[in-house]
Amino acid sequence: MAIAQFLLLLTISATAFPLHAQPGNTITPSKSIVDGQALISSNGAFEMGFFSPGNSKNRYLGIWYRNIPVQTVVWVANRDSPLNSSTGVLNLTSNGNLILLNDSGYVLWSTSTSNVTNPTVQLLDSGNLILTRGTSKSILWQSFDHPCDTLLPGMKLGWDSSTNFNRNLTSWRGASDPSPGDYTYKFDIHGVAEIFLWEKSARIYRSGPWNGQCFSDIPENTLFRSQFISTRDEDYFTYEVLDSSVISRVVLTKDGVIHHFNWDNTSNDWSDYWYVPKDPCDKYAYCGANGVCNASYSTSCQCLKGFDPKSTKHWNQRVYLGGCVRKTRLDFQSDTFSDLQNVKLPDTSNATADSDRSLDECREWCLKNFSCVAFAMSGESGCLTWTGDLVDIIVVNEGGDDLFFRLAASELDTKKGDSSKKQHAVAIVIPLLLGFLLFVFLGLFILKKKRKQGMLTDSCSKESRGKELELPLFDMSVIESATNNFYFNNKLGEGGFGPVYKGQLRDGQEIAVKRLSKDSVQGLDEFKNEVMLIARLQHRNLVRLLGCCIQREERMLIYEYMPNKSLDTLIFDKTKAALLSWQKRLDIILGIARGLLYLHQDSRLKIIHRDLKASNILLDKDMNPKISDFGTARIFRGDQNQENTRRVVGTYGYMSPEYAMDGIFSVKSDVFGFGVTILEILSGKKNRMVKQVEPHLNLLGYAWTLWKEDRCLELLDEAIECSCPVSKVMRCIQIGLLCVQEGSKDRPTMAEVVLMLSNEGVALPQPKKPGFCIERTSTEQHQSTVPEITHTLFEGR
Ligand SMILES: *[C@@H]1O[C@H](CO)[C@@H](O)[C@H](O)[C@H]1NC(C)=O
Ligand SMILES: *[C@@H]1O[C@H](CO)[C@@H](O)[C@H](O)[C@H]1NC(C)=O
Ligand SMILES: *[C@@H]1O[C@H](CO)[C@@H](O)[C@H](O)[C@H]1NC(C)=O
Ligand SMILES: *[C@@H]1O[C@H](CO)[C@@H](O)[C@H](O)[C@H]1NC(C)=O
Ligand SMILES: *[C@@H]1O[C@H](CO)[C@@H](O)[C@H](O)[C@H]1NC(C)=O
Ligand SMILES: *[C@@H]1O[C@H](CO)[C@@H](O)[C@H](O)[C@H]1NC(C)=O
Ligand SMILES: *[C@@H]1O[C@H](CO)[C@@H](O)[C@H](O)[C@H]1NC(C)=O
Ligand SMILES: *[C@@H]1O[C@H](CO)[C@@H](O)[C@H](O)[C@H]1NC(C)=O
Ligand SMILES: *[C@@H]1O[C@H](CO)[C@@H](O)[C@H](O)[C@H]1NC(C)=O
Repeated sequence: MAIAQFLLLLTISATAFPLHAQPGNTITPSKSIVDGQALISSNGAFEMGFFSPGNSKNRYLGIWYRNIPVQTVVWVANRDSPLNSSTGVLNLTSNGNLILLNDSGYVLWSTSTSNVTNPTVQLLDSGNLILTRGTSKSILWQSFDHPCDTLLPGMKLGWDSSTNFNRNLTSWRGASDPSPGDYTYKFDIHGVAEIFLWEKSARIYRSGPWNGQCFSDIPENTLFRSQFISTRDEDYFTYEVLDSSVISRVVLTKDGVIHHFNWDNTSNDWSDYWYVPKDPCDKYAYCGANGVCNASYSTSCQCLKGFDPKSTKHWNQRVYLGGCVRKTRLDFQSDTFSDLQNVKLPDTSNATADSDRSLDECREWCLKNFSCVAFAMSGESGCLTWTGDLVDIIVVNEGGDDLFFRLAASELDTKKGDSSKKQHAVAIVIPLLLGFLLFVFLGLFILKKKRKQGMLTDSCSKESRGKELELPLFDMSVIESATNNFYFNNKLGEGGFGPVYKGQLRDGQEIAVKRLSKDSVQGLDEFKNEVMLIARLQHRNLVRLLGCCIQREERMLIYEYMPNKSLDTLIFDKTKAALLSWQKRLDIILGIARGLLYLHQDSRLKIIHRDLKASNILLDKDMNPKISDFGTARIFRGDQNQENTRRVVGTYGYMSPEYAMDGIFSVKSDVFGFGVTILEILSGKKNRMVKQVEPHLNLLGYAWTLWKEDRCLELLDEAIECSCPVSKVMRCIQIGLLCVQEGSKDRPTMAEVVLMLSNEGVALPQPKKPGFCIERTSTEQHQSTVPEITHTLFEGR
């Protein structure tokens, strides 16, 4: 590994980076830069010089990160006019024009500045190249004003009306070609400002209007401060990093995706903080005019209330672009408003803003003006009003606004009257229809099965509720022969709803088969839940479902086989635990964190696992952790942050206080389970089994006591070689304690956890007291005798 990295570094420096860098961060007219020399910012973070991107032989003048082993160029001067040899020279003329010349003295690029006495060019610590008069502070030209594909902290993306210049990000054409590609990310200043992603001249994605904190797709967080500045002369977006140790950039890639990357010292690569566009809903106007895109709705698009698809035919073929039209004409007298909560507000190119109106005044004003079709209150813009069609409305998880749209009063009323009747009708018709479809499907299936032998590739449509999932269906006989007819020696253990067997397919692939117990009532729901959920998910830290088998009474799920079993079989076993080095444990923790982050945030579905624990983490042959068992997981609606349940499912010791006591679960209850898992991985002790050491405490209480007494290293599993880095261990324990804090609001989000784990520079808050840190007595004690493997259930409240 180390050698490969060294070689990589070597090749980069040999081909792209100058070996004989000329130190210093300034150019003056007497000092030019030739290929092989470089400017280095005084903090050493950035370097400017000549480079060749990817496998191109051309030379470009650019700025890149100096301390990062992956060539990451953030700015290119001569994107359009490459040098074909290493003979370029960068000169500063005595009247202040910075020029790039080739062999024959031809100017390939320049700043076009002139009449500057005593000019100086300097590369700043922020990565900005500036041109000033002498040492004067006033900047005459700067690279930050001419972004390429990268937005660095402190850079502006937006409009400057004094120079009539719209600073935009434009993608590279290819990995080896920095010339401007087809994608551009820039402000549209018509109506209320928004940022659009363009592919050539077509809009393909929209940020949503600024609502005071962020654009609707940028997750709220405590690590970055995003700002939208609007003055008489300027409208722009900028962001800063609150923690200076985080290396961060936003880049528009050659494939037209906007990524916010942070440097991850652990994996030595850039890691994604967020990116857009993500799913079909992000595609601009995917549902057409007056349509609403809802990613958790099976067909994505719905019409606004009171609207019907313009073309039902197209709509049924899942072509939504035509959008929706009103069912009932508006009449100025009696119109009313219906509201839609937590959405990315429609395109504001034709909207107007008035920051002085209150919500009531806004409504009043919109009602009085017949051309106003909708209004909303949004951040500093205040009252927003729309005319014409409402385009690109999307249901979002977080950071959404409420939209009020005009509707004929009759629509609202009939809706109420009719809908219950309609719903009744629907309640009867749909099951009938489904039953019929099922019948047809089964018929087809049997027909097909008769024709084919062995493994069938069909969709488990019955269980996955007809969503366009292509989940392979395995034939019972294949599974029987793979598992030796469910031979007892093949049994791996008990999963959430039945036994799990190891098997081997004829082609040699090893599988794990989870078989639903026939007498398990609870099981069938969990089985369905698991199929529905996991078939939609794909991440390297989630276990992969290969298919299912539904035949006669049998219901089975087929997974890839994990040779290293579950995490609990390793960490709580003294001999096996010795094989888990400190670094391995850290990698496992980080892997689980990434998997959980994906569930919570990165797939647009927001999924709460609800039963995260060591026995639900499986390890592949390389010890990569994979989260499994989605039987009790829940999908949250777009706007939902928590849910209240009467049936608490999960495992004692891993459940957060608010969940175990009040049945309230949210992403923060998963964070709690994750925190317990971290402490177990580090200590090698089960949460409830610390009693030998401290009779009244569980692991959380024990860790907390040690933490307060500054003895937290004692928590560490003796099986771990003592050579591990003390500060890193302490840090990891601290993160574990932050995750198990009593108050759910105090616990970090998984995005924060991943950043804290992967970046040692990020400062950590002091943890507060953990929830459930004292071993619980009486009733709970009784509960905790239920074997780990099964879910503990009880009726809450
Ligand atoms: C660069 O281009 C010039 C003019 O087209 C040509 O004479 C020269 O051979 C080229 N150099 C290389 C290294 O290709
Ligand atoms: C560029 O600078 C070098 C060294 O300062 C000088 O020799 C050369 O003439 C300059 N070229 C131009 C075109 O100004
Ligand atoms: C210098 O650049 C010009 C314009 O691109 C080109 O015509 C000329 O051949 C180049 N000279 C060399 C030696 O590369
Ligand atoms: C150069 O700047 C001076 C003052 O800074 C001004 O008087 C002069 O007109 C300028 N010349 C040009 C060509 O812009
Ligand atoms: C983006 O900005 C560059 C200057 O940095 C300009 O040349 C280009 O025309 C702009 N692109 C669009 C699509 O506005
Ligand atoms: C989005 O779709 C889900 C699933 O059909 C539904 O429960 C939810 O209410 C929808 N959200 C909105 C705002 O329509
Ligand atoms: C804004 O108005 C223009 C001109 O009427 C129209 O072409 C465009 O489609 C409208 N945009 C939206 C998003 O409604
Ligand atoms: C209604 O609103 C439109 C668009 O905001 C505006 O152009 C028009 O003047 C308004 N009409 C009245 C009567 O206020
Ligand atoms: C991560 O790497 C950067 C660049 O080498 C360094 O400046 C920073 O201190 C490192 N952070 C940690 C936590 O190691």
